[in-house]
Amino acid sequence: MQDKFIGPDKIIEKKQEYMIPCVYHFYQEPMQIVKGEGKYLFDHTGKQYLDFFAGVSVVGAGHCHPEITEEVCRQVKTLQHTTTIYLTQPIVDLAEKLAQVTPGKLKKSFFCSSGTEANEGAALLAKLYTGNSEFISLRSGLHGRTYLTMSLTGLSFWRTDPNPVGGISFAPNAYCYRCPYEGTYPDCDLACAKEIEKVIQTSTSGNVAAFIAEPIQGNGGVITPPLDYFKVVKEILDRHEILLIVDEIQTGFGRTGKMFAIENYGVDPQIMTVAKALANGTPVGAFIAESDVADCYTRPGASTLGGNPVTAAASLATLEVIEKEKLVKNAAEVGPYFKEKLLELKDKHPIIGDVRGIGLMLGAELVREGKEPAVEETDKVLEYLKNAGVIIGKNGPSRNVLAFQPPLIISKNDVDQVVKELDRVLAEL
Ligand SMILES: Cc1ncc(COP(=O)(O)O)c(C=O)c1O
Repeated sequence: MQDKFIGPDKIIEKKQEYMIPCVYHFYQEPMQIVKGEGKYLFDHTGKQYLDFFAGVSVVGAGHCHPEITEEVCRQVKTLQHTTTIYLTQPIVDLAEKLAQVTPGKLKKSFFCSSGTEANEGAALLAKLYTGNSEFISLRSGLHGRTYLTMSLTGLSFWRTDPNPVGGISFAPNAYCYRCPYEGTYPDCDLACAKEIEKVIQTSTSGNVAAFIAEPIQGNGGVITPPLDYFKVVKEILDRHEILLIVDEIQTGFGRTGKMFAIENYGVDPQIMTVAKALANGTPVGAFIAESDVADCYTRPGASTLGGNPVTAAASLATLEVIEKEKLVKNAAEVGPYFKEKLLELKDKHPIIGDVRGIGLMLGAELVREGKEPAVEETDKVLEYLKNAGVIIGKNGPSRNVLAFQPPLIISKNDVDQVVKELDRVLAEL
């Protein structure tokens, strides 16, 4: 097997010579991944890894799912591309399906090829509908890498552009473990949510198009607001006639044990953005809006590859697999079991400062004394687990949060394997 592959050293050499250096990779000793199957990845030596990161919440249905792969191949062999100036069926079938699976009155979709584009388009739609051009975003949110979406991002790690877009104000996120008001839920009375009103009154002209937020902040460190947080936020937004854009790019399609994470919070956004897990690995992005909001976007808009027959077929097949294999239910069952095990580890290992998340979107924040971020230790855990055949992610503003976002097909036995290895490495630190 090994002879066919150039191996990690050669790949790094080529990366350094031919790729723009902003693209980083994990691990001191990285492997060359050559194959994926279900919940497993394989490297060039044939070593198997249990994947608990799913390519950052993308491969929800598992790697190279046979039915999705077959559908993609069938579509590639039949009609790969035309663009939206010609009529094709998969794109409208997908739009119809999204209207059915998304919450509230979300109905009309625009398709593109990435999460970044989806957020960029959603922001444009909010501007068109409201006639306003300011936005409110959350600290530690991540919304993309273009000029506007990077400016909406509240993580300096991902804000490379030194001249961000103006008219964006940031509100504190619901980071209960490090509460900006040093409060404790529920006694805090959700001061962070209420702060949004003060931000509107003090940092904006009052003419705000939209508030954008991830229901659970992925890159921000699996920051999971209390379950009544978005109700308080939405009430403020409604009073000020500000739209709610929910970024479900990392949380969508079953990950939290509901089809969409915002459903855990009981509010309906006027616009939702999706990408990643919608097509299980085929590049896709979309924003979907309530009809009255969507209908104001009448000037021509086109994305050459957005909703192309292959992506749309992959998305439809993925949605079918999610339903058929009851993946949302599995996330709702295995997720709490996993969280309980992580909480047990927290009791045993003081380096785990906090465990948070819903369903199969879980995080464990590693800290030293006085909650100092345990950054090097986080890297050691990732390296050890990789060597033991387990892949997890890391995130958070200080990169000290272990991120567990596996394919939704995993079982409690898989959780036990990961927890056993985690227990071992934490004992060694
Ligand atoms: C919540 C969220 N929004 C937007 C994006 C950007 O998506 P993409 O990388 O597909 O452009 C990401 C990427 O990780 C994300 O996690």
